[in-house]
Amino acid sequence: MDHVQVELGDRSYPIYIGGDILGRVGELLKKNGITGRVMVFTNPTVGSMYLEDVLEGFHGEGYGVSSRVVPDGEEYKTLEYANTLYDSLMDNRIDRSSTIVALGGGVLGDLAGFVAATFKRGIPFVQVPTTLLAQVDASVGGKVAVDHPRGKNMIGSFYQPRCVIISLSVLDTLPEREMRAGLAEVIKYGVIKDASLFEYIETHLDSLLNLEANGLHTVVKRSCEIKASIVTKDERDEGQRALLNFGHTIGHAIETATNYSRYRHGEAVALGMICATDIGVRLNVTSVKTSERLSNLIERAHLPTRIRNVSADAVIEFLRHDKKVRDGKVRFVLPREIGQVMITDTVPDDVIRKTLKERSL
Ligand SMILES: NC(=O)c1ccc[n+]([C@@H]2O[C@H](COP(=O)([O-])OP(=O)(O)OC[C@H]3O[C@@H](n4cnc5c(N)ncnc54)[C@H](O)[C@@H]3O)[C@@H](O)[C@H]2O)c1
Ligand SMILES: [Zn+2]
Repeated sequence: MDHVQVELGDRSYPIYIGGDILGRVGELLKKNGITGRVMVFTNPTVGSMYLEDVLEGFHGEGYGVSSRVVPDGEEYKTLEYANTLYDSLMDNRIDRSSTIVALGGGVLGDLAGFVAATFKRGIPFVQVPTTLLAQVDASVGGKVAVDHPRGKNMIGSFYQPRCVIISLSVLDTLPEREMRAGLAEVIKYGVIKDASLFEYIETHLDSLLNLEANGLHTVVKRSCEIKASIVTKDERDEGQRALLNFGHTIGHAIETATNYSRYRHGEAVALGMICATDIGVRLNVTSVKTSERLSNLIERAHLPTRIRNVSADAVIEFLRHDKKVRDGKVRFVLPREIGQVMITDTVPDDVIRKTLKERSL
């Protein structure tokens, strides 16, 4: 088992990464000084396959443990649903010395984390992410939230977990589309910070999609290291963390314009990365060679490179409402080359419009 440390002073925590370590979740909590009762939140998809392993581990370590299955889907990542989880916590005598464990993808992690952050002003929280996206992104960095009818992740907080436990073998059951969508975020880390990670994905793409263990370990660990180092420098998203938004400016607008139903988040991010790179080429920030390298990899990963049936005007309209807009200006992260990006808020509207039109089908 490997580990990556997220350095945040007295809120620092380890990310454990191993092949099949679900049965060791109890042991790892103990190692991190966690005592008291445990409440595991999971969903039916993940719980039916993995909850038993996790619970057995807790029993083996002598923990008092309860579990609650939350329906699968973003539509349950709401304040209304969180309210029912507070009931479960009280019914199960969970108090401030107890710990919430999130066993699932990013939806479950965000919801359980939000509940942990707010119940009795905050109780310890542990992430056991089970999608590639949650392993490399959502579970690391302490952003927790629920959605509001008027916006995704609108009600939330920064609340760091006590540890993150990544058992790579759970990816065996992840639908291929989810795997590819998670890979988009891994590609993103390569572009923003690490040319050798990008090159590694180029060389090992097929074995990664075939879930070859060493390759997965390498890219998940490297992604966590990159996210951890950025979060260490900018826990509350006031500077450096903006780099993580590469592909997310237009990506989010496309997700919103299509009502979050057509694209998986990672697919929209893939489109967003392609558009940001096109913009970079138009502004002479990115070379055509860099742009082709990125679009080739995205295509080979069977992620989308063309926007279907969304008008450029609709995307632009949503861009203006984005959280990343400051003083009416839309902020973009553009690649200078693979491994290095720049942030700008001076992309002319007509460049955005032309790029979107050219990328649309
Ligand atoms: N907090 C953050 O920093 C952050 C970052 C990125 C995304 N997010 C949030 O993450 C959410 C998306 O997360 P996601 O992509 O993991 O989606 P998800 O949690 O909806 O999981 C996708 C699907 O895969 C299933 N699944 C999970 N693990 C599985 C496994 N091992 N085997 C089989 N099926 C499995 C889930 O039940 C679900 O049906 C969004 O709500 C987004 O806002 C948060
Ligand atoms: Zn993302």
